[in-house]
Amino acid sequence: MLITEGVEKRFGGLTAVNNVSVNVKEGEIFGIIGPNGAGKTTFLNCISGFYEPEKGKVIFKGQNIVGLSPHQLCHKGMARTFQIVRSFPKMSALDNVKVAAVFGGKKHKNPEKQAEELMDFVGFPVAKNILTENLNTMQLKRLELARALATNCQLLLLDEVAAGLTPSEIPDFIALIKRIRDSGVTIITIEHVMKFIMGVCDRITVLQFGTQIAEGTVEEIKSNPKVTEAYLGEEHVG
Ligand SMILES: Nc1ncnc2c1ncn2[C@@H]1O[C@H](COP(=O)(O)OP(=O)(O)OP(=O)(O)O)[C@@H](O)[C@H]1O
Ligand SMILES: [Mg+2]
Repeated sequence: MLITEGVEKRFGGLTAVNNVSVNVKEGEIFGIIGPNGAGKTTFLNCISGFYEPEKGKVIFKGQNIVGLSPHQLCHKGMARTFQIVRSFPKMSALDNVKVAAVFGGKKHKNPEKQAEELMDFVGFPVAKNILTENLNTMQLKRLELARALATNCQLLLLDEVAAGLTPSEIPDFIALIKRIRDSGVTIITIEHVMKFIMGVCDRITVLQFGTQIAEGTVEEIKSNPKVTEAYLGEEHVG
């Protein structure tokens, strides 16, 4: 679904992403973790067309997509939670999803119906016509996911989607992300919340100072001493 080969992105003298190669398979939930400033968001920006890497390839469904814009990638089936159509605070939650359904990707015959169905699918817990500015974090996260899905994406990129959720909200959220995967969407997720990442991912790659220091299953990552060391002084893995 998504392959990167030797992706490099520099900011002046700083190499924020250094020779990163991943191979995310269709139907996988793939995690990217690492300490603050490790290059996770920059790497995701290279995948989603927000940045053009100085070196390397990004291959989406067999095509090198370096140089394409986020908008073009959206139409090719790649969505990103915070970057699609930003939510409009003065609009209802339902209308926000409808906007994404109409402008985000493929045309739908009935955007209204599709928006309603997606809000049910993500378990939107309050009235669908509530003004978006009145939503709490958990409700906004679900809205963001419904909007991303409204673009009919095959690959969904999530940057810290569990941030700000209470520990008791995490298990439901893990179930939701798995439900999205089971509906046919491949997922790449960046996260600091270890309870979330360890509960949801099939495989994880670990970045430190822009470089990959480990990759493997949850169990492999948890027991990798390099990973524990990278996180010393930070929230520990577990
Ligand atoms: N637009 C930019 N211009 C200059 N430096 C940048 C820019 N964006 C990121 N950086 C630097 O690149 C490095 C990687 O940043 P990035 O935001 O990708 O890390 P991250 O792993 O997402 O961190 P966090 O966990 O804090 O979100 C950091 O040293 C950061 O200061
Ligand atoms: Mg980041």
